[in-house]
Amino acid sequence: MTSEQIRQKFFDFFEKRGHKIVSSSSLIPDDPSVLLTTAGMQQFKKYYIGELNASKDFGSQRTVSIQKCFRTSDIEEVGDNTHLTFFEMLGNFSFGPIVPSADGDNPKDFGTSGYFKRVAIFWAYEFVTEVLEINSERITVSIFGGDSEKIENSVPFDEQSYNIWHKEMGLPKDKIICGKREDNFWGPTGDEGPCGPTTEIYVDGIEIWNLVFNEYYREKNGRLRKAENPGIDTGMGFERLTAVLQGVDDVFETDIFKDFVFKINEFIPGGERKIVKILADHLKASIFLTADGIRPSNKEAGYILRRLLRRILAYSVKCDIHADLFPESVDFMKAKFSRFYPELNNAKTILAVLEEERLKFQEAIGKGLKEMKKYDEIGVKEAFYLYETFGLPFELIKELARQKVKNLNKGEFEKEFAKEFEGHQEISRAGAEKKFGGHGLVLNTGELKAVNEEEMKKVIRFHTATHLLQWSLREVLGKDVRQTGSDINAERLRFDFSFNRKMTAEEIKKVEDLANEKINENLPVYFKEMSKSDAEKIGALAFFKAKYPDVVKVYFIGAEEKGNLISAEFCGGPHINNTSEIGKFKILKEEAVAAGIRRIRAIIE
Ligand code: GLY
Repeated sequence: MTSEQIRQKFFDFFEKRGHKIVSSSSLIPDDPSVLLTTAGMQQFKKYYIGELNASKDFGSQRTVSIQKCFRTSDIEEVGDNTHLTFFEMLGNFSFGPIVPSADGDNPKDFGTSGYFKRVAIFWAYEFVTEVLEINSERITVSIFGGDSEKIENSVPFDEQSYNIWHKEMGLPKDKIICGKREDNFWGPTGDEGPCGPTTEIYVDGIEIWNLVFNEYYREKNGRLRKAENPGIDTGMGFERLTAVLQGVDDVFETDIFKDFVFKINEFIPGGERKIVKILADHLKASIFLTADGIRPSNKEAGYILRRLLRRILAYSVKCDIHADLFPESVDFMKAKFSRFYPELNNAKTILAVLEEERLKFQEAIGKGLKEMKKYDEIGVKEAFYLYETFGLPFELIKELARQKVKNLNKGEFEKEFAKEFEGHQEISRAGAEKKFGGHGLVLNTGELKAVNEEEMKKVIRFHTATHLLQWSLREVLGKDVRQTGSDINAERLRFDFSFNRKMTAEEIKKVEDLANEKINENLPVYFKEMSKSDAEKIGALAFFKAKYPDVVKVYFIGAEEKGNLISAEFCGGPHINNTSEIGKFKILKEEAVAAGIRRIRAIIE
């Protein structure tokens, strides 16, 4: 099945079932708390909450779209078989209210009113097995297994979906997997919005479709409330689905990418496949971002575009790629995708933007090379100076500097460089944080990871909560307590520390209360850069496993001049600005991990 047939079949199927076909929205979302469009439901947020009326605007409470999406979290992963920064997502949506037919949520209802779980699951399964003709033997699904009832905002086991899959669709029990919050609960995008439990459809173990049941609304303060009108939001990655249907395990081998990859290969005959894939992804993404009006800059979405373009340009220098790569790529994208995305017809402007960035980059390289000539020998320090001062990507400096490196064989240089780079990341994180202000653009800061900008914001709140927790534990249990590890995601924090017995219930409560007390005191959170020895002198806590550079960042909670300084830790950040932003801190569990090491799991509300 060709990718164009898949597009058509998807639209036809849902149009027939009362959905209004809606064009993809821009990659620049209208929600200021989100940097780029990451999901199909974003353009419909106001319909879910009743602020806009879908029946009035679309003539139906049901819509279907193929949405342009961009996920920054995947930038570093691109080059393998599945990751893309820019991709398209097929989705069907329902905004409620649900008007139950005689037998409830009814898949035979091809009207225009809202529908919910039963219908969404029926149609998804019908589309996959009958329209796409995927044998049901290949299918497994996941559903939301439920939170512990003890936590606030807990969401119960999605029994209804389980029953639909098992009893109505006939899926055997062992093909229905119960997932946790991190896997089977989706949204919201941005600061607040619709969200809910999900059911995912897998083919041969590959997730192809995510069905979100927007039963909840998450408020800005983190509270979940039942949505007035439960909605449906589904997302099916187009490239991945196409790979499954075309029997390839690499999205770059689908008919969406194949010709483009072939074209790039002509520019780098015999080029490393990974580089070709990175170029294919980044070129396509840059062209779509530019077509939507994003311009390279040092902040927000503009910075993402600049980063992609500079990576392309660095490879162009490294692999000696002809400058025609840009015009030919723009022409290619226009020819292949302007039918679906007319903004690509603006090829002249798109190309002018890319070319301007290329010239700027060339100038920077020129200056960098000139500077490089001044050195007879280049070590990692010099390489970093060049990296920092001329804004050249790491990859390229490494490549160019290597020719002048003496007394170090390749492997050692690589290692030294990596070490320097790691230390350096501590500092550049601070820079990044300044640069991106409240947007939390740094999606993998080394320490913190998040799948998108919104999640990163939550993760940053957890990060500060971790410092507060360490302080609080040391207050209650004594100063021998030291962090031995931590793991943070958007749902919870996990903190490991040295302590040789189980904590009592009173101690746990005391630690929790103390942390909340400090949250309520609105203490400032900030950092200072200082020499490692000064940081050690003031007693800043270091994580014993880490190696630190000579200049370090120390994060403080509270102000010395106000007499409420409580915490100082070696840390690259990022953090929130004030403890009050954490919300309510709650310890869920205290357990042993190894001899002398305890683990705390906590959430914030
Ligand atoms: N909005 C559903 C998804 O992105 O998976």
